[in-house]
Amino acid sequence: MPQSSSATGGKMRKLLILACLILAVLGRKTFEGHQVLRITAANDVQISLLKNLTDHEHLELDFWREPVHESLPVDVRVPSSSLHRVKSFLKNNKIHYKIMIQDLQDLLDEEQQEMMRSRAHQPKSTDGFNYSTYHTLDEIYSFIDMLVTENPQLVSKIVIGQSYERRPLNVLKFSTGSNRPGIWIDTGIHSREWVTQASGTWFAKMIVASYNRDPALTAILNTFDIFLEIVTNPDGFQFTHTSDRLWRKTRKPNRGSSCIGVDPNRNWDVNFGGPGSYNDPCDDRYYGPYANSESEVKAIVDFVKSHGKLKAFLSIHSYSQFLLYPYGYTSTPCRDNAELYNLAWKAVTALSRPYGTRYRFGSIINVIYQASGSSVDWSYNQGIKYSYAFELRDTGHFGFALPANQIIPTAYETWLALMVIMEHAKNNPY
Ligand SMILES: *[C@@H]1O[C@H](CO)[C@@H](O)[C@H](O)[C@H]1NC(C)=O
Ligand SMILES: *[C@@H]1O[C@H](CO)[C@@H](O)[C@H](O)[C@H]1NC(C)=O
Ligand SMILES: [Zn+2]
Repeated sequence: MPQSSSATGGKMRKLLILACLILAVLGRKTFEGHQVLRITAANDVQISLLKNLTDHEHLELDFWREPVHESLPVDVRVPSSSLHRVKSFLKNNKIHYKIMIQDLQDLLDEEQQEMMRSRAHQPKSTDGFNYSTYHTLDEIYSFIDMLVTENPQLVSKIVIGQSYERRPLNVLKFSTGSNRPGIWIDTGIHSREWVTQASGTWFAKMIVASYNRDPALTAILNTFDIFLEIVTNPDGFQFTHTSDRLWRKTRKPNRGSSCIGVDPNRNWDVNFGGPGSYNDPCDDRYYGPYANSESEVKAIVDFVKSHGKLKAFLSIHSYSQFLLYPYGYTSTPCRDNAELYNLAWKAVTALSRPYGTRYRFGSIINVIYQASGSSVDWSYNQGIKYSYAFELRDTGHFGFALPANQIIPTAYETWLALMVIMEHAKNNPY
């Protein structure tokens, strides 16, 4: 009785989805009634007031974009219990703000429902993979295995280490010859920046689809190996799915503190512990007990050093729409400042072509803030000239809760910028 059994199947599936939904919701941190405020400070005094606000731990504020100076907006997630106090504080000090996200949980519920819908049919191949929805760690790891199985001549998987919770740190290697110099790309070192892991997945498919079809990518792959780590912080990423969608750090416990995790982009051995990183384990920018303390960072450091011939190091974050190059820890321009500036200009010009997305670009310290211990400063000081960090979409409409229908456009425009940088590296050997 095919009809009735398929009807039962449909009902079963609905029940199953419902059960998953309930299970998934239990134990997960809720952001009901949390608002994200977009604050525009008018002067230094207001910036200083906002910086002081960050010290009030009991307010449980989560700065999505920190107060730096007047030219940059400040985005902050405020739990409902603190909303009244924060808004009064802003009003009393005549600091302008608007509500960027009315109720964060509404956006996250939509994100979940969309993932559930697309999960009803798991792909059998990377062609059937849905690139316009967000995926769990398991789904991305099986995507990686499928891609390797489908393209054994071109793609392999390297495990460069283990996360704190003993997950494999998987890197995709795209290679068409031996002993090539390499290009490094990482996405998702900050786990809540979901559009980056999603873009990384799309990049991987794009590389495979373009080889021997797109002459520019083919030429790049005939010169370089490309190494792509899609889930650079897998423990954090898993945690964003199971427990706290806005988790940024690693998941290693800290001695003498109940707060978990280290900021893996302040943990690199470059001006470690300096300005723009924090010694408080409860801070989202905690630099950790010592440089490379996080195995997720150490694995990349060891890989880069043992490879010895990486020519570009491209680290992908979100959000803000910035293309950044060294330095973050010092205002002294790096030796290649002029070249990196010109190349960034070309890259953001290419990026803007399909949808008009506009980026700011420049050195980290000039465009955003002073930051010590960050990956691209480290890679640059290792002699990898083309070291860039991206901050993908958007500029502060959805922030970390970027709707899934923006994944492909975001990945595509970013890819155009990555191509400009990789081509330049190919045409300017050093
Ligand atoms: C911020 O806090 C510091 C130290 O508590 C204080 O000296 C400073 O005046 C405060 N800034 C403003 C603008 O209130
Ligand atoms: C991918 O998932 C989204 C969200 O569930 C859905 O709208 C879309 O139709 C799916 N696309 C494909 C090709 O299955
Ligand atoms: Zn980031």
